[in-house]
Amino acid sequence: MTSTPVLRLESVRKTYRARHKETVVLRDVDLEVPAHTVTALIGASGSGKSTLLRCVNLLEEIDDGAIFLDGDDITDPRADADAVRRRIGVVFQSYNLFPHMSVLDNITLAPRRVHGVDRAEAEERARELLERLGLGGKAGEYPDRLSGGQQQRAAIVRALAVRPRLLLLDEITAALDPELVGEVLSVVRDLKEEGMTMVIATHEMGFAREVADQVCFLDAGVVLERGTSAEVFGAPQEARTQQFLKRIVEAGRL
Ligand SMILES: Nc1ncnc2c1ncn2[C@@H]1O[C@H](COP(=O)(O)OP(=O)(O)O)[C@@H](O)[C@H]1O
Ligand SMILES: [Mg+2]
Repeated sequence: MTSTPVLRLESVRKTYRARHKETVVLRDVDLEVPAHTVTALIGASGSGKSTLLRCVNLLEEIDDGAIFLDGDDITDPRADADAVRRRIGVVFQSYNLFPHMSVLDNITLAPRRVHGVDRAEAEERARELLERLGLGGKAGEYPDRLSGGQQQRAAIVRALAVRPRLLLLDEITAALDPELVGEVLSVVRDLKEEGMTMVIATHEMGFAREVADQVCFLDAGVVLERGTSAEVFGAPQEARTQQFLKRIVEAGRL
């Protein structure tokens, strides 16, 4: 018997409605993310990557299907959304640190307020994480004193501070100057080494190829192709995947 995946999506359907127009953004999406693996979501802008992550974090309600976290149906209307979000760490493209709080306070806020961890313990864990992510001296700084790469690493520390079961990373290097991308990706690499389960939406194809155990190519809300990194990047089966990767290679991004 195989163990329960950390995350499972079953026939997830998501539509956005605006007045008379209905847009299907996710169509029968199935996905399984086993513990200690990394899944990369790739695909053109608008293919549904962010929406998928937002549905997992219950920021969006799905129209059909179900999402399971450690086997629990988190899309069941009776599920406690706050309790679910406490088990999931999220980092977005823009760092979203609170500007009026020190790095340390940004990081200890959720553990203290939401998880009821006492200050000393929350700060100890925060400092330990900051050290590990190369931000040892930055606990007392305000976000605007940090580089973009440092801010994004601090945002990752904040997501890790609550010991999440699953980490969702949405284009976390997209807003960074090119020379700062590497330091953030290297943190993700380390987290993978440590066994963190992650789902990553990314345009960094070289990184996705290197770090992902599973790659899902989304096309207009459909998982058109999935497989190991070697399968999807090395021998894509679908014409649209081939086309997408060809353009990326031509742009020198793979
Ligand atoms: N809040 C929203 N309301 C209406 N349409 C949306 C909303 N958010 C995203 N969309 C649409 O959903 C589709 C998928 O978007 P998104 O998930 O952001 O794709 P990706 O992250 O792959 O670029 C796009 O067509 C986008 O315009
Ligand atoms: Mg997106």
